Amino acid sequence: MADSASVPMLKHKDLLEIATLSREEIQLILHTADSLKDVARHPIKKLPTLRGRTMVNLFYETSTRTRTSFELAAVRLSADVVNIDVGISSVKKGESLLDTARTLEAMSVDFIVMRHAASGAPHTLARNLHASVINAGDGQHEHPTQALLDCYTVREKLGGIAGKTITLFGDLLHSRVARSNLLAFTKLGAKVRFCGPPTLCPREFEQLGAEVHHDVKTALAGSDVIYVLRLQFERHRLGLLPSVRAYTQQYGISTDRVKLAKPGALVMHPGPMNRGVEISHEVADAPQSVIVDQVANGVPIRMAVLYLLESGRTARAASPPVPAPMGAAA
Ligand code: NCD
Repeated sequence: MADSASVPMLKHKDLLEIATLSREEIQLILHTADSLKDVARHPIKKLPTLRGRTMVNLFYETSTRTRTSFELAAVRLSADVVNIDVGISSVKKGESLLDTARTLEAMSVDFIVMRHAASGAPHTLARNLHASVINAGDGQHEHPTQALLDCYTVREKLGGIAGKTITLFGDLLHSRVARSNLLAFTKLGAKVRFCGPPTLCPREFEQLGAEVHHDVKTALAGSDVIYVLRLQFERHRLGLLPSVRAYTQQYGISTDRVKLAKPGALVMHPGPMNRGVEISHEVADAPQSVIVDQVANGVPIRMAVLYLLESGRTARAASPPVPAPMGAAA
């Protein structure tokens, strides 16, 4: 029997944010994804790790990539997957978040992958359930697995992350991806720059460790990665931008602007893209663009997260906490 100390695992029950992951834990996830990436190339794309386990995708906001990627990751580890369509579930009848989650747990669910418009919603579930909760994006707070797959892609394409300059453009104010990426890339030793108009890229981001720029030229000088984010019009209040055209003219990533970064700089975007707004068609499809690689890497990263959380669950089940002696103070 394997010694539990030698089995790689995440000790937390849940994966909620990058903020509380250590640099070593992030590295462990990337390293585990390396060995799982090969599974997609096998004739039989399956490992038995999660046989008998059930994962529920509970998405209160739209998603294409993230939801499919979690589903594929779970299926490739032999888990059973249930997708809850919030649009036709009891949520529409006004059921509370916790009641929905408790209902799922009553059916012995092991993993709940959740996306919600409210920051902190997955944390509430995690505190109240035995199932492992994975945050697939909460409001403007965090999107940890996106940051992990982005780190994985940079490490794969540039051979490492420490010492690199990663510059993010777009809707930084509303972006959970920006926050998670800032935390993850800095923990791995990169320098992170944010660039945009003051309304979408306020100076306060400096307190989180980002270098804040309002000028595209200085932001791009010396950049190894140009990371473009979607303008999240659904979260915009009126007056944040004079016009979409003005944004594109001043901050849109075009072929000419890419040339201001280091030669061969990577172009990244988490999707979905507004082509012709924050990124031009040519740049999105250029050889320097690794947008498709990001999507592909989402699967092994999410397999690694599920695998490592499962190892932690197994270890906890094997050595449950010792109950307090009778009569001991609570
Ligand atoms: C992002 C999200 O939903 O946070 N997309 C994604 O997960 N790939 C970014 C976005 O919606 O713009």
